[in-house]
Amino acid sequence: MFVVRFEVEESNSLRWRNGNHMNITVIGAGYVGLITASGLAETGHRVICVDDDQGKVDTLNAGGMPFYEPGLGGLVHRNREAGRLEFISRIEDALAQCQVIFICVGTPPLENGEADLSSVELVARRISASARGYHLVIEKSTVPVQTGRRLQKHFSIYGDNAQFHYDVASNPEFLREGSGVEDFFHPDRIVVGVDSAKAAELLEEVYRPVLEQSFVCPIHENCGKRPRVPFVVTDINSAELIKHASNSFLAMKISFVNMIADLCEAVGADAAKVAEAIGMDSRIGGSFLKPGIGFGGSCFPKDVQAFVRVGQSAGCDFNLLREVERINQRRIDLFVGKIKNELWVVRGKRIGVWGLAFKPCTDDVRSAPALAIIRRLLAEGAVVRAYDPQAMEKAKAQIPEIAYCPDAYSAAQGADAVLALTEWEEILRLDLNKVRQIMARPLIFDGRNMFSRTAVIEHGFEYVDVGSGAHARKHVPAGR
Ligand code: UGA
Repeated sequence: MFVVRFEVEESNSLRWRNGNHMNITVIGAGYVGLITASGLAETGHRVICVDDDQGKVDTLNAGGMPFYEPGLGGLVHRNREAGRLEFISRIEDALAQCQVIFICVGTPPLENGEADLSSVELVARRISASARGYHLVIEKSTVPVQTGRRLQKHFSIYGDNAQFHYDVASNPEFLREGSGVEDFFHPDRIVVGVDSAKAAELLEEVYRPVLEQSFVCPIHENCGKRPRVPFVVTDINSAELIKHASNSFLAMKISFVNMIADLCEAVGADAAKVAEAIGMDSRIGGSFLKPGIGFGGSCFPKDVQAFVRVGQSAGCDFNLLREVERINQRRIDLFVGKIKNELWVVRGKRIGVWGLAFKPCTDDVRSAPALAIIRRLLAEGAVVRAYDPQAMEKAKAQIPEIAYCPDAYSAAQGADAVLALTEWEEILRLDLNKVRQIMARPLIFDGRNMFSRTAVIEHGFEYVDVGSGAHARKHVPAGR
């Protein structure tokens, strides 16, 4: 095995207390690849991270970051300095040094909702053209079930059989944007799909420090000893499916609670309380039951769609997930409907927007509900002034025609209403007295139910949230 013994050092620069380190290639310096590469380096491995975007490689080598993610910049910097992490642009230069290869390239949606696997295929071509000796090729990008099988077939056709020996494995990631570093070091489980004992052993070796929680935690000062992380070994198809099924289930929870929220508004019940109480059932669980303007981001919308396509092509009835998508898309109509209802005429009204990112602690605006809402309001003739602590640059590239403000107060200045669309801490900590004084009409539409209704009303605001019976549209007579 390609494993070198490492002496234990007391210094902070070496954060793996005991065991082996491996040479690992991570292909793709995007969200998943960069966290995986720097996380593995932090646990002691030597990692070469490859990205064919030379600009991104240059940025990383110059100490910059291609996107915002809490804790990631420090991790990348420390491991580069320690010589455990390097960035290059040619796969061929990494392969000769590394036995273990993680594929972390993008799999964006095609027009028909299927995942576009052309980047995965391109990487496979490069590997088969230049790999020599044994390699473990691990797909970490979110891919449809049976992609591993296709990779194996690809290698058997294009690889040099005499020289290139391989195993293919699936190791889905469960990293959330905004807390990806935390999720890397303290995962709920590590899933590996393999079809050989050797592949399972190598992956266990790669993740040993994380599985044993034996690294010096780079995030929590007094992390303490945590229990061993479950290591779930399956066949390759099952591992691929686990990822799509997990994301789809979480999306389903959100759409379910949003459906309940609509009913609560209609009949005069309180969705927050309903969600809290159903979540107390340990079989249901309280997370991902927060009513609001729906899920966005680069994962849930694309993964639900892709999973529907997978089900469809396998001849299975996946209409349940189509409804999850449909309910989510309707969130925007319903929210904009509430705004129109309160403002009467939207044309010419000044609307402040707090939050553009699809969720807090990220600058990602892909499929962000906030952008969909802004587009709808612009179409109605509103004057939009927006603020987000991190995502304004990325939003500006998509919607250049609105005003981007230096802070949340400036977005609220003179506004007929403000919309709270991403639950940033900074926005929660605003001085509501000050906000009330600077607005033309103190009206808050809370798309994330992030404020306390009582507190906001006590500050003299009109307040519209999601799923509160206080804004009942209609009452269903008892007994019907
Ligand atoms: C999601 C999964 O949570 C990760 O486990 C997975 O690895 C990742 O996708 C991926 O496939 O790469 P992420 O998209 O970063 O992570 O964000 P989440 O925290 O899951 O939130 C997704 C969306 O759901 C956000 O727009 C959020 O605002 C929304 N949401 C979440 C709700 O509307 N209500 C909730 O109760 C929870």
